[in-house]
Amino acid sequence: MVKKIFVGLVGILVVIQFIKPHFNNPKIDERIALQADEKVISLLKNACYDCHSDETKYPWYHNVAPISWAMAGHIDQGRKALNFSQWANMDADIRTIRVKRAKQLIDNGLMPKGSYLWMHENAHLKQEDKKILDQFFDQQLQQLKKS
Ligand code: HEC
Repeated sequence: MVKKIFVGLVGILVVIQFIKPHFNNPKIDERIALQADEKVISLLKNACYDCHSDETKYPWYHNVAPISWAMAGHIDQGRKALNFSQWANMDADIRTIRVKRAKQLIDNGLMPKGSYLWMHENAHLKQEDKKILDQFFDQQLQQLKKS
């Protein structure tokens, strides 16, 4: 009985591998991508860019279903919500709302997402990292007010 269930599960795992989501990284245009100082960019790259930019780094398991399906969903929805590679192209009002939300989400430990942190040790934001990002987002808000 146990053996049958096990064989069944393995069979399902094998079959679902044929359902592959489509992953792609559109070409980056530096003229519209976010520009910031090195420290800020490196924090955002470690903690946010895999879901919020066109520079996603795909881990080896990105092709393993069902993880691949969840990952494709996160990247797709994450890019739609906020894409640092398309920063200058984002509507200023929407950017303002997203930046305000980003401050709250980081402050409350809701971004990066918990499921992502399990597998991405260096995406954890320390208190001082959070402060740097918070200041950066405040500067963005100041600039957005002027524009
Ligand atoms: C594992 C993927 C992933 C990572 C990493 C990630 N996000 Fe997100 N983020 C999402 C997804 C998916 C959404 C859209 C759906 C949702 O809100 O859950 C989102 C939504 C957002 C939104 C819009 C929320 C709203 O209510 O409008 C902001 C702002 C945001 N993320 C900021 C960040 C910041 C800043 C980081 C890095 C510190 C980050 N995210 C890291 C996946 C991610």
